[in-house]
Order: sequence, then C-alpha cells, then structure tokens
Amino acid sequence: MKVLVLNGPNINFLGIREPEIYGKTTYSQLVEKISAHACELGIEVTFFQSNHEGALVDAIQGAYYDGVDGIVFNPAAYTHTSIALLDALKAVGIPTVEVHLSKVEEREDFRQKSYVGMYAQRTITGLGVDGYLMALDFLKDSIK
Ligand code: DQA
Repeated sequence: MKVLVLNGPNINFLGIREPEIYGKTTYSQLVEKISAHACELGIEVTFFQSNHEGALVDAIQGAYYDGVDGIVFNPAAYTHTSIALLDALKAVGIPTVEVHLSKVEEREDFRQKSYVGMYAQRTITGLGVDGYLMALDFLKDSIK
C-alpha cells in the first residue's frame, strides 16, 4: 500500500513558526515519525511539501500516475481558499485524510471553511503530529 503525505505552505517551518500553536517538532522530525509509523504498518510512504498551490496540484495528479492508494494531506492555509486542490482530489479520486496540527475549528473565522474537507473521507484536527499517524491508521484500515 502506497501513501503520499502532502503538506502545504509554511509546514516546512514547523518548529520555528508559532510553536505555541503548531508545536516544537520540526518538519524533518515529522517526516521521521511518520516514516517509522508507516514502516510498522507496512505502508510505503512518500513525502512532498510545497509553498505553491500549483505544485501541490501537480503532486496530487502525480499520485494518480504513481498508483498511490491514499493521501494524508495538510493543505495548511490553502485549506481555506483552494478550489484547485479540491478539484485535483476529485479528479484523481484517491482516498484522502485531511490533517491539521491545530484545532482549526476553535480558531479564527477565516479558518472555518475547508475546501479539501469537502472531499476528504476524514478530517483530524488538534492532535499535532499524532494526527498524521492516526491518518495512516485510518487509511490502513479503510483501504483493503
Ligand atoms: C494548519 C491550520 C491552517 O489554518 C494554517 O493556515 C496552517 C496550518 C494546521 O496544521 O493546523 O498553516 O493547517
């Protein structure tokens, strides 16, 4: 089973950006933790992070050609704005779990809308890094 872990803008700044909201774990530590959990589950995992919307669209389309079975996606700020990412997910039809480190539903009004959430099979918020691990568990259980 192949899973793509996709992260949007400023996630590469984890550990530096607003640690009181997003925690102290860095992006490379996040990748290590997810890789270890994927290994335990027997999932082949690949990672892509970009600060650019079009690059994320390209990565979603690429997942289709690569035969990816599931996507774990933190679209970051594009969550709240991007119809292009929603359309890309709909186009490829790959099961997707939306993950947010913070509890977005308890934050600003402008974070209350999620376009990606209109497609995602599940949304996990407010669990920090563990949210990504739970997303892998969910994909493992739901994709046979
Ligand atoms: C985020 C929440 C978004 O609202 C924000 O723009 C981010 C990170 C999260 O992981 O909590 O960049 O997706």
